[in-house]
Amino acid sequence: MTEMSTVDGKTVRVALLGCGTVGTEVARLLTEHADELAARAGAPVELAGIAVRRPDKHPELPQHLLTNDAAALVESDVDVVVELIGGIDPVREWLLTALRKGKSVVTANKALLAEYSAELFEAADSSGADLYFEAAVAGAIPLLRPLRESLAGDRITKVMGIVNGTTNFILSAMDSTGAGYAETLDEASRLGYAEADPTADVDGYDAASKAAILASLAFHTRVTASDVHREGISNVSASDIAAAKALGRTVKLLSICERVEGEDGTESVSARVHPVMIPRSHPLANVGGAFNAVFVEADAAGSLMFYGQGAGGAPTASAVLGDLVAVARNRVVGGRGPRESAHAQLPVRPMGQTPTRYHVSLDVADKPGVLAQVAQVFAAHEVSIAAVRQRDRHDTASLVIVTHLAPDAALEATVEAIGKMDVVNEVVSVMRVEGEDS
Ligand code: HSE
Repeated sequence: MTEMSTVDGKTVRVALLGCGTVGTEVARLLTEHADELAARAGAPVELAGIAVRRPDKHPELPQHLLTNDAAALVESDVDVVVELIGGIDPVREWLLTALRKGKSVVTANKALLAEYSAELFEAADSSGADLYFEAAVAGAIPLLRPLRESLAGDRITKVMGIVNGTTNFILSAMDSTGAGYAETLDEASRLGYAEADPTADVDGYDAASKAAILASLAFHTRVTASDVHREGISNVSASDIAAAKALGRTVKLLSICERVEGEDGTESVSARVHPVMIPRSHPLANVGGAFNAVFVEADAAGSLMFYGQGAGGAPTASAVLGDLVAVARNRVVGGRGPRESAHAQLPVRPMGQTPTRYHVSLDVADKPGVLAQVAQVFAAHEVSIAAVRQRDRHDTASLVIVTHLAPDAALEATVEAIGKMDVVNEVVSVMRVEGEDS
């Protein structure tokens, strides 16, 4: 037997908090693959208890493991707490208690991590426990460990991706059918791709929490959900989708985290979630339906892309089990996984000062001097135009303008001023652009 397959460590006892779609899969895999997991961890990994709100509602689970007292389970003789309940309270206190008592935590709780990771890491440091959370962002996709470990020697400059499957499903469907937002959301709900209350997804809260986690890890700094500029998809119209299509682009809701260098050379971090037009040739454009994908740019590694299922019982359980084996192995060998890395302490750049590019589609009067007048408004706001396309109709013209990079506030002010011009009949579509040379 090789050293790696030796199972001589003390049994690692696991408390599972929450047993919904993901928890059920975690419990199943933990039981069915017990021998393999033990061989990989170097010790048996045993499910010691499962906390659920209504034990009587779970006849499928081993009854002797069930409890409705999560706090007592956390305090009991367990080594690792796997938290799959979600939300802030009361989970936050349970996990802080676990970490302070030296119990490692594996969690998928993006909302908690996006606001309270500093205190969770501090609690972990106070006892030397591990805090792992691969399942909190992009489900099954191994993404956080590459950011925390594999790329720890590199300098990441940008992380940009589709991290919310519900909105990606809706935007993909709008792109393929040409239908509007409201009816596509209804269809997504009917098919089970959107929650009964879809607010967290469609208004970008879910993606913003994930952006905060990604930015913190990628740039070794602290970014919370409230630092993330957030726009959802409810204002994306069929006209926006059609305007994108006409130019060989598509619309995606992206979480974008990047290092931004000011004119004086000082660095800051931009973290934002908003709809974006990207070229149909961009790798993220081909990520359809409920899938997730994240593009990472690093100085030495270049461009990397991570793709896979961002939600669902078994895919998310895969990430949870990976973390569980890692923390169990750390306990067996007496080490710890990565701690918080926030040494860079970069300021978060306000959205208005973040350089972005806009696509503006206008319906204008078709007469001499209109293009010049519109261009003058861009110039007055110091926004440089990258491309203009005009298509004549009868007595009006469709004018599409794509800008170079400019501060977002200047672009917003430009669009507002253009909307008030007499020669502009309608601002048909305004959207930020990514994935093209600036
Ligand atoms: N609600 C998320 C989504 C999955 O739609 O992708 C969990 O993070």
